[in-house]
Amino acid sequence: MIQKCLFPAAGYGTRFLPATKATPKEMLPILTKPLIQYGVEEAVDAGIHTMAIVTGRGKRAIEDHFDISYELEHQIKGGEKENLLKEIRSLISGCTFSYTRQVEMKGLGDAILTGETLIGKEPFAVLLADDLCSHEGDSVLKQMIEVYEKYQCSIVAIEEIESHETHKYGIVAGNLVDETDDTYRVTDMIEKPDPKNAPSTMAIIGRYILTPDIFDILRKTTPGKGGEIQITDALLEQAKQGKVIAYKFKGKRFDCGSIDGFVAATNYFYTNIKKEK
Ligand code: UTP
Repeated sequence: MIQKCLFPAAGYGTRFLPATKATPKEMLPILTKPLIQYGVEEAVDAGIHTMAIVTGRGKRAIEDHFDISYELEHQIKGGEKENLLKEIRSLISGCTFSYTRQVEMKGLGDAILTGETLIGKEPFAVLLADDLCSHEGDSVLKQMIEVYEKYQCSIVAIEEIESHETHKYGIVAGNLVDETDDTYRVTDMIEKPDPKNAPSTMAIIGRYILTPDIFDILRKTTPGKGGEIQITDALLEQAKQGKVIAYKFKGKRFDCGSIDGFVAATNYFYTNIKKEK
């Protein structure tokens, strides 16, 4: 069983400056909900109720979001606006949230290692809130947990990208294991390769299930691409032992860390809400 979800949320979000100067990127809203709330909802859909969030300086708004705001609650109590807080209230009462701070932003791998204290020695999910996923059936994380239950090793969610975009992603190579569930046994993975060096066009998105041995591997992982400690490099160590499965998820993903992806997500969710009304 996967019981905890780790949210690395300490990055600077420089692509969204100046908006992210004093506001965490994870708090940028798609319509009325911040990105991280969509992430927590996805984890809950997957049956997870323990949220472990890696933050950093200037990220206090995330903690405040998942807490009661007494003055505000008092102000709108009994009014029709109270309904707007229904979803967030149910997350606050149904989940626990714990936090730790990454002191130096040394990369996603380092952020995950910082989260070890909140996770312990059990397999866990990792969700990057700026990769917003929408789904018709099961959420992406729920789909991945099913894959984990079958293979009992680390799982990365992947999607096919255009070949000129490989420099933005971790790219995997692998052998098809099962056509019916779109799974590949990973044989190689490279962080942000140039198209000419990319082993495929299968890109890792911000959803992982990791086995806890990843922490020991991360401790030994030296800075890679961009001088950062890369989760892709640590996962490659597991892949060499045949212990990483890549899964082509069902659903739609928006890279909300980029302006184009953020606008596309906003339009998509807005159109869907209009259709529902
Ligand atoms: P990004 O690569 O999107 O970096 O991180 P970023 O700093 O958030 O954004 P840009 O590129 O400057 O615009 C991917 C994920 O890893 C987390 C980020 O918060 C994001 O969820 N991260 C990254 C950390 O938690 N710590 C780090 O040191 C780096």
